Amino acid sequence: MIHRLQRGLVPEKHHVALRVDGELAFEHCITRRGFDSVYTIAYHRRPPHWVRDEQDLGEHPGHVEAAWDGAVRRRHFQPARLPVGGSPFAARRLFLANPDVSVWFARPDADDDTLVANADGDELTFVHGGSGRVETPLGVVPFAAGDYVFVPRALPHRWRLDGPAFLLLVEGRSPLDLPKQFRNQVGQLTMDAPYCHRDFREPVWPEGGPQALGAPRLLKILRHGRVTLQELANDPFDVVGWDGQLWPYAFPIRAYQPRTGAVHLPPTTHITFAGSGYVVCSFVPRLVDTREGAIPCPYPHSSVDCDEFLFYVDGNFTSRRGIDAASVTLHPIGLPHGPHPGRYEASIGTTRTDEVAVMIDTFSPLLPTRFAREVEDPSYNRSWVQQAGGEQTGGGVKDPVAW
Ligand SMILES: [Fe+2]
Repeated sequence: MIHRLQRGLVPEKHHVALRVDGELAFEHCITRRGFDSVYTIAYHRRPPHWVRDEQDLGEHPGHVEAAWDGAVRRRHFQPARLPVGGSPFAARRLFLANPDVSVWFARPDADDDTLVANADGDELTFVHGGSGRVETPLGVVPFAAGDYVFVPRALPHRWRLDGPAFLLLVEGRSPLDLPKQFRNQVGQLTMDAPYCHRDFREPVWPEGGPQALGAPRLLKILRHGRVTLQELANDPFDVVGWDGQLWPYAFPIRAYQPRTGAVHLPPTTHITFAGSGYVVCSFVPRLVDTREGAIPCPYPHSSVDCDEFLFYVDGNFTSRRGIDAASVTLHPIGLPHGPHPGRYEASIGTTRTDEVAVMIDTFSPLLPTRFAREVEDPSYNRSWVQQAGGEQTGGGVKDPVAW
């Protein structure tokens, strides 16, 4: 959804005959928001919609119920404790969900052994560790640690890994896009957007076209958390050409152009992607506030209409002790949060931060699953307890209080 691309052969107009080696190619229109939004038209050698067989494989093992599970509290999850193994599709585990967005983690160490397609939403995967490529009928997207990888809803693809990987998957129910404020009236990224068109890594058209990738004809489709296996009648990668504005891409988080203010700028200054009901923000190394006396560390705050998910990627996390790379904190609607006291004051006079983090702010509460609870640090919420006159030690309510 960045700009129009063309790869391979396309006829001079939509919906007219394209013949390849004397045979009529089959047009495949992939459209969003009905037929009103972005679209891509691909041309296949054989009908792309013919299926030889299909089978219901049941619930995806990583898709479990997300539900409210108790008192409101600030939470710390450690997805690095997930077992390593399996393909990206098989290894994914749902951590948090609401009606707008689901957040999964995966620690795969093998390629997808079939094609996969997520019919539940667009997928924005942040690659915390590992490298490889995503093969699609529209081309190949190479990726490395620190990249976001975008795969549109329902596009058949497979992940090929160079080794073990650590993935954070954001599954958006509505089309995930770049925020409107970064586009001009004809859709071009504005001069003051935090990225430019060149920052988005386009799919590479392989020599011989995608057909040369030898894609399997088995396709697993995820829908409502269940998996349907289709045996396709034809090679879904037999695309001779395509054009359009809907395509998979990679965006390196460090290509995000941060801003610095005279005083601390709010998280909205880090917005990178947006869908209905949520935004994804990127925190990257940057100079911090320039005014004398400015406090670069985030101020205690209550964003009272949002749940705030933060995934710590790299750097020295200035605001809270006990947080490491690959930590997730979840600060729910209704609770103020902010730095540990020492960190707040120590930040005065600093000139830069090297932190890298991915934040997801949602307007509906993000509910945890058992996969999140299994790797939760139960001490985190107690780290906010400030005893009178001193250190945060954990404390405890001495006398039970009836509500
Ligand atoms: Fe916050």
